[in-house]
Amino acid sequence: MKNKKITRKITQGVYSLTTKNGGCIVDAVSQISSGDNPLVAVAVMNSNFTNELLKENDTFAISVLDKEVDGKIIETFGLNSMRDINKFEEIETVEINEIKIIKQSIGYMLCEKVDMIENETHTLFIGKIIEADVFNDLEPMSYSHYQSHKDEILKVKTEDGKTAWICTICGYIYYGDSIDDDFRCPICGADKYDFKIKEN
Ligand SMILES: Cc1cc2nc3c(=O)[nH]c(=O)nc-3n(C[C@H](O)[C@H](O)[C@H](O)COP(=O)(O)O)c2cc1C
Repeated sequence: MKNKKITRKITQGVYSLTTKNGGCIVDAVSQISSGDNPLVAVAVMNSNFTNELLKENDTFAISVLDKEVDGKIIETFGLNSMRDINKFEEIETVEINEIKIIKQSIGYMLCEKVDMIENETHTLFIGKIIEADVFNDLEPMSYSHYQSHKDEILKVKTEDGKTAWICTICGYIYYGDSIDDDFRCPICGADKYDFKIKEN
């Protein structure tokens, strides 16, 4: 493959996907159909806790994040696991039909899970929109904008005395003098060649 980074140029946004007891940041969302209750698909890594939750729950919500969104929302939901922290204690949410959605968002789609397609690494969850609202007129964050500005968006501080390496795929920060050959990003699985030294 000459350069798979072209996939980062597929136009998609940055969203928070929530369900009962958890959620994460996703970009892999697409609309499948329109009509009164459109169908949407969201691909979630099998290793994410959110994947387990979505298999147990029948309802999930997708909140659309804006271009100026507080980086703490992306950091909390996208670079941490609910296995380790309670994301809902860190970020303000509002509850719609027992699902917490991000308060600082452009709006949300509440979906009823109608299908699941299993893949080796991801599960594609298909949802029928049963409720939705638009809160404001802000410009949505595109995944491509996130990729080119994640250093500023995440505002991650370098820990004293250690070199910080940023994963150019997801923004995860690794601290250490060097990166082992077999190192894999714990968030997105990228290899050491996808890490670069983070300049402050
Ligand atoms: C900008 C961005 C986009 C992401 N897109 C996806 C995605 O489409 N699907 C996915 O499964 N994870 C995606 N992630 C990674 C998850 O949000 C991340 O692994 C999260 O820590 C999982 O949390 P959980 O274990 O609580 O589910 C993305 C992360 C970021 C920062």
